[in-house]
Amino acid sequence: MKVTVIGVGNMGAAFVKQLSLAGHEVRVVARDQAKAQALADAHAGAQAVPALGAAQGADAVIVATPFEGAVSALQSLGALQGQVVIDITNPLTADFMGLTLGHTTSAAEEIAGAVPGARVVKAFNTLFAQVIAAGADFGQGQVAPTFVAGDDAAAKQTATALAQSLGFRAIDAGGLKNARYLEPLAGLNIYLGYGAGLGTSIAPTWIQRA
Ligand SMILES: NC(=O)c1ccc[n+]([C@@H]2O[C@H](COP(=O)([O-])OP(=O)(O)OC[C@H]3O[C@@H](n4cnc5c(N)ncnc54)[C@H](OP(=O)(O)O)[C@@H]3O)[C@@H](O)[C@H]2O)c1
Repeated sequence: MKVTVIGVGNMGAAFVKQLSLAGHEVRVVARDQAKAQALADAHAGAQAVPALGAAQGADAVIVATPFEGAVSALQSLGALQGQVVIDITNPLTADFMGLTLGHTTSAAEEIAGAVPGARVVKAFNTLFAQVIAAGADFGQGQVAPTFVAGDDAAAKQTATALAQSLGFRAIDAGGLKNARYLEPLAGLNIYLGYGAGLGTSIAPTWIQRA
């Protein structure tokens, strides 16, 4: 797939690494072009590109900025009509221990509302960057899942295929509105990882009796 990653921090770097390893064609966008270049240089198959036009021909755009910067970062790419956008953000408070919105909306819905025409899918937000960087295999048959929520079935399928290509299990989490559940779930994960001291080699999952 052709995948554009906006943001070159913890999550952006983890995605660029794993997408490149999986053989995807990766375009890297940052507000500081030098940072995009440095990250792209470290991964075969990744290319740093300017923001404007970076989504053209892309199968998916992964927005890996803080929620507060996501809409302007997406808008900097130019027209996004029909574009699959994978929103991995969590609308965190400054101390990372709470959410700035929820119950009646979600970061994903706010982004979808602000970037009309984009086909927004919520995914990967419950996975620590360290988990994405290290890979989905937790050993002893355990594979980290990502929950995939969105209102466009084909866009969800793209996000699902992308997740599976990186080795993650994908759990269909329904419509984009269910990001209202997924973002607090990420909040719990952050509490368990950092607040309760379990560390970042953890991930929320779902089990089902066969
Ligand atoms: N870290 C995790 O484990 C984790 C897990 C799940 C979800 N998430 C979510 O993933 C997103 C990224 O997290 P992160 O840990 O990768 O953050 P990070 O390390 O702070 O990186 C953020 C990236 O976004 C860029 N950025 C910041 N504000 C921007 C703006 N207004 N416009 C354009 N780009 C902007 C930064 O650019 P500069 O380098 O120029 O500042 C940097 O490249 C967040 O929404 C977070 O909630 C993170």
